[in-house]
Amino acid sequence: MVEVSIVQFTPGWNAKQQNLQRIKALLGYIKTDIIVLPEFCTTGYSFLTKEEALNEGEPSSGETVEFFSTLATELQAMIIAGFAEKDGGMAYNSALIALPGGQVKVYRKTHLFYKEKLCFEAGNSGFFVVDHPLKDCRVGVMVCNDWRYPEAARSLALMGADIIACPSNLVSTLWGVAMPARALENKVYLAIANRCGTEKRFLEYGTEQSLTFNGGSVIYDFNGSPLTQAGKEEDGILTVSIDPLLTRDKSFNPYNDLFKDRRPDLYKLNQELK
Ligand code: ACM
Repeated sequence: MVEVSIVQFTPGWNAKQQNLQRIKALLGYIKTDIIVLPEFCTTGYSFLTKEEALNEGEPSSGETVEFFSTLATELQAMIIAGFAEKDGGMAYNSALIALPGGQVKVYRKTHLFYKEKLCFEAGNSGFFVVDHPLKDCRVGVMVCNDWRYPEAARSLALMGADIIACPSNLVSTLWGVAMPARALENKVYLAIANRCGTEKRFLEYGTEQSLTFNGGSVIYDFNGSPLTQAGKEEDGILTVSIDPLLTRDKSFNPYNDLFKDRRPDLYKLNQELK
């Protein structure tokens, strides 16, 4: 069995040191195997320009990655956390995957949402699956708005993911309709760590942008049923035990297999748009 934990809290905008301290305090000496934190959990979400993204962004050898890498080794857990990444002159909305022992991989969000497109480059890492070094468990990562593109979760499942971790900053509640389907249609567990709280930024001409994030962090089983779910507003950590081996047989009756029944020769996923 594998223990999976999702962390829900309210990162402050432009308050990296406080956010790192909050994360450290929340995680304490938790004993678990996989920890998922929200998207942009060290910086807050409300970037408005490329300059801001590059100013706040850090290389994959920076303080944030170092912090989570040390924590992953201390806690003997795999940690997945969203952060603003800078690579040369480009900024990405990324999720780090820190393994106990010091190895770190970085997924760059494929499908940017709303004004993220003004600030970040669309991710170019592609999808990949990471083996947990201490457990028989394969972990895929997607970030928030990737949920709207079923190809993301499907790609990860076809690559062998048993569980998909999804650092998120979700502002609507629509995802609650589709995320369980991502788990069910791929027969994978799905762990969504969302943030809560409201972020305000003052814009030009006396206007302001206010975004409220809806919490509701959740872990779905491979039939799309919630195993645990947080409320809208409270900070905290939820942990469940999962059996990754149960996701590997994709049959759901003696005649049907989710993957073997696929008909890729008939699908038109690379179709030119009309
Ligand atoms: C989102 O992708 N942060 C909604």
